[in-house]
Amino acid sequence: MSDFAEIILEGKSYKMPIVVGTENEKAIDINNLRAESGYITLDSGYKNTGATESAITFLDGEEGILRYRGYPIEQLAEKSSFIEVAYLLIYGALPTQQELDVFTNEIKIHTLVNEDMRKILDGFPSTAHPMGILSALISSLTAFYPESLNPNQSKDEVNLTIIRLMAKLPTIAAWSYKNSIGHPVNYPKNKLDYCSNFLHMMFAYPTEEYELNPVVVSALNKLLILHADHEQNCSTSTVRLVGSANASLYSSVSAGISALWGPLHGGANQAVIEMLEAIKADGGDSKKFIAKAKDKDDPFRLMGFGHRVYKNFDPRATIIKKAADEVLTALGVNDPILDIAKELEEAALTDQYFVDRKLYPNVDFYSGIIYRALGIPTDMFTVMFALGRLPGWIAQWKEMREQKEPIGRPRQVYTGDTERNYVPMNER
Ligand code: SDX
Repeated sequence: MSDFAEIILEGKSYKMPIVVGTENEKAIDINNLRAESGYITLDSGYKNTGATESAITFLDGEEGILRYRGYPIEQLAEKSSFIEVAYLLIYGALPTQQELDVFTNEIKIHTLVNEDMRKILDGFPSTAHPMGILSALISSLTAFYPESLNPNQSKDEVNLTIIRLMAKLPTIAAWSYKNSIGHPVNYPKNKLDYCSNFLHMMFAYPTEEYELNPVVVSALNKLLILHADHEQNCSTSTVRLVGSANASLYSSVSAGISALWGPLHGGANQAVIEMLEAIKADGGDSKKFIAKAKDKDDPFRLMGFGHRVYKNFDPRATIIKKAADEVLTALGVNDPILDIAKELEEAALTDQYFVDRKLYPNVDFYSGIIYRALGIPTDMFTVMFALGRLPGWIAQWKEMREQKEPIGRPRQVYTGDTERNYVPMNER
């Protein structure tokens, strides 16, 4: 294979180096294209454009492969814990027991947030969507930890900024939920593990202890592991782009939370449940909604279906679908929308429209059904996605800094008016 690509422009030849990754992914390095030829490339939605070289997550959309630092997601979901996977993503290797204990304990001693944050929280109406609160409160961490704004923080200072974020996001997320239902917030209990502590803060009441169910804790661990990273998706690319301007980790992640909120991205898990509820309310006719999804004049989309990269089953959806059956059975929950989801999946997977476009269930299609069975309210589903994706955002932001990447600033092709003179008001 040649180690360069040749581009002929206006009769002149330009040679661009070929980059090959460890999984044999190939790219044309066009870093010098504009300087040498005056041309740029155009790629709406970056469907064919690599923004960076990364060693964190590998996915193969055709084969349905997903690995964090080389470890298959199936093995991590089965054998690891979310906090261990967070360590793996952020620091690049599975921790020793001692390293894991240090990481776990460092997080535990930072789970409290400044009491002044409650004044900010109290300023939100109870109707505020928890994702809007989460993005705002994560950004407000820059006010409580202004040293995090220094782009030249030492390695230890950056690590403390990372630990604080891992520790405080679950507290802030649970508090945003309590705010939305007008209930008093719960403080973290550091004798609990990461997932148990979050569930305690979400569901405990001053009048009664929250009894942890090991099935729920285990399911939450698995769900968070499956959401932990996904290479250069929309929200992660947002975190890297904002961070490339030397913005703090907190500002970068706050921006990532806003990107994730979009219903085409992380907001899809909430949209799936709302869609399934609408189908149930409409009489449960899956075929009617499949027809709507295929109708170009109908804005309805089958939420939870399709993916920019996976043109085969999203491996996470396969694991989550199995877990949904297990969790609902273990909890004795009979949720009719699970049956509607399965009917919808079967109908779509045999329909030529979906087959031709390689539209399969993605991570969001079944996750909401489990969250619902765990007692998580629908408008907290995307917050759960953010909770899971946090270590991935942190790892990607850290890698972007360590690789000393330049500020992200795409070019464009201008299509507006060519030069013209100002017209005085009386001549318009
Ligand atoms: C996530 O990137 C990541 O890794 C994201 C994520 C992560 O972990 O970070 O995996 C998480 O965001 C999962 C995706 C969640 N979103 C949804 O479930 C929303 C529904 N899906 C779509 O809107 C869509 O499939 C996207 C946004 C996911 C992907 O959009 P693309 O790659 O831009 O594809 P497209 O919109 O150009 O669709 C291609 C064709 C179109 O039809 P034609 O113009 O070719 O006739 O497929 C059709 C689309 O109309 N299509 C759908 C569809 N998804 C695509 N038609 C009906 N229902 C759908 N869900």
